[in-house]
Amino acid sequence: MGQVVPLPVREPQREEHPVLVLDLGGQYAQLIARRVRDARVYSELVPHTLSAAEVRRRKPRALILSGGPASVYSEGAPRIDAELYRLGIPTLGICYGAQLMALDLGGEVARTGVSEFGKTELDGGSGALFNGLPDAQTVWMSHRDTVTAPPAGATVTGRSASTPVAAFEDSERRLYGVQFHPEVVHTPYGQDVLKNFLYGIADAPPAWTPAAVIEEQVERIREQVGSARVICGLSGGVDSAVAALLVYKAVGDQLTCVFVDHGFMRENEAEQVAETFGGHFRVPLVHVQAQERFLARLEGIDEPEEKRRRIGEEFIRVFEEEARKLGAVKYLVQGTLYSDVIESGGTDGVAAKIKSHHNVGGLPEQMDMELVEPLRLLFKDEVRRVGEELGMPERMVWRQPFPGPGLAIRIIGEVTRERLEILRAADAVLQDEVRRAGLYRDLWQSFAVLPAIKSVGVQGDERTYAYPIVIRAVTSEDAMTADWARLPYDLLESISSRIINEIPGINRVALDISSKPPATIEWE
Ligand code: XMP
Repeated sequence: MGQVVPLPVREPQREEHPVLVLDLGGQYAQLIARRVRDARVYSELVPHTLSAAEVRRRKPRALILSGGPASVYSEGAPRIDAELYRLGIPTLGICYGAQLMALDLGGEVARTGVSEFGKTELDGGSGALFNGLPDAQTVWMSHRDTVTAPPAGATVTGRSASTPVAAFEDSERRLYGVQFHPEVVHTPYGQDVLKNFLYGIADAPPAWTPAAVIEEQVERIREQVGSARVICGLSGGVDSAVAALLVYKAVGDQLTCVFVDHGFMRENEAEQVAETFGGHFRVPLVHVQAQERFLARLEGIDEPEEKRRRIGEEFIRVFEEEARKLGAVKYLVQGTLYSDVIESGGTDGVAAKIKSHHNVGGLPEQMDMELVEPLRLLFKDEVRRVGEELGMPERMVWRQPFPGPGLAIRIIGEVTRERLEILRAADAVLQDEVRRAGLYRDLWQSFAVLPAIKSVGVQGDERTYAYPIVIRAVTSEDAMTADWARLPYDLLESISSRIINEIPGINRVALDISSKPPATIEWE
């Protein structure tokens, strides 16, 4: 690696012209920001309370007012700074956002008493939002109040059977509204409507590509870090891996990655991390073999929270020991995602707070290092695309989420060497079969659980007394809720017979058919 020279600051940064999605409380607000980014335009979700002055300071290319559950007439209904309509920034109101626009600008919103939920045919579809789209299209509605007259000066550009003003526009003032939800998949041309708004109306180029993200983040990291040393903990997951590669691309050997192998990884996973980072990418890597230490700390422990606490504590201890060996390290890389930033309540320098029980595998704040967070602006699917662009292996890019404490919280009871080996082997069979069935990417997670109980079976002529394995496979969008996956019977059959035949110590396979809530995804 040659010496990396920090580049001078270059203005303006691409994100300085975002599309701002004003969050009016709708469940789809975050989805709108994601759809805009799917159109390769950078967008951010911001509170609806932002003042016109603050908005102007961000120099947005466009504004989108999200939907929301309130009625514009209800007490405490969210409102926006009316000055925003006069900034000349192209603005699209969606559902509640469109109603608010109508109410604020001399139109009419009525409580017709008729709700409209689900798919509806939209007629007309004229005007700039519907450019190049069929005259009639299916759209997804979810509203109670209805716009009965558009803002003064605006024209009606779409109607449905029960909604007289399903879309309107005022091209002079650059104000647009749709009653339906273009951001959901149930509106087949929804993404085209958004693209018409972004490309055709707001003149926002599709420049937010993985390559552009990399270029920009690399520059930012160089500016932030200068010639100081950086450390990054690798977990085996995609977030820390992509964050580490971005930093490596930016500052080369100033970065040291530390991979604490606690012995609770899945089969071959630790080797893959070492091979990919140390071998393929040649990132300076400290691979700490701490399996024995962790196992010793869990002796006699079967209480889930106590297990998590001990693993978390030991993890920090090992990491700190390694960091100390490196001498003066000023920066710590973290794979904080945009969804963490939103969840913790803000995009303006608010540190990401991860849900308390998920902190295991995280690092202490008192490490007294400054954070480098190159994924702070990215959603998970964008992180994956950046990973692909950086040349990361497919297996790592598309890895299903895996908890910090790993297999230790999938053994229900005390963690022993024997149980770990059995569970790891069973999990490997399950992963193999799920991949072969082509379902790996469709599932949020799929894994094996080993409850440390034994039941009676018979194999050959012999009575057995052995562990069961529970199969857990779920579909989910964000892990907050999850549904048990309807795996095909044939797949279940091959998973079960392979696990029982190939792995000594197991004589029974069961399937977990609980959704979240009330169950959780993990068993501990
Ligand atoms: P639960 O079990 O609460 O899990 O439904 C939700 C998601 O979080 C993952 N998970 C963790 N991730 N450290 C992590 O990094 C942890 O300690 C942890 N515990 C659970 C879990 O796999 C699921 O995707």
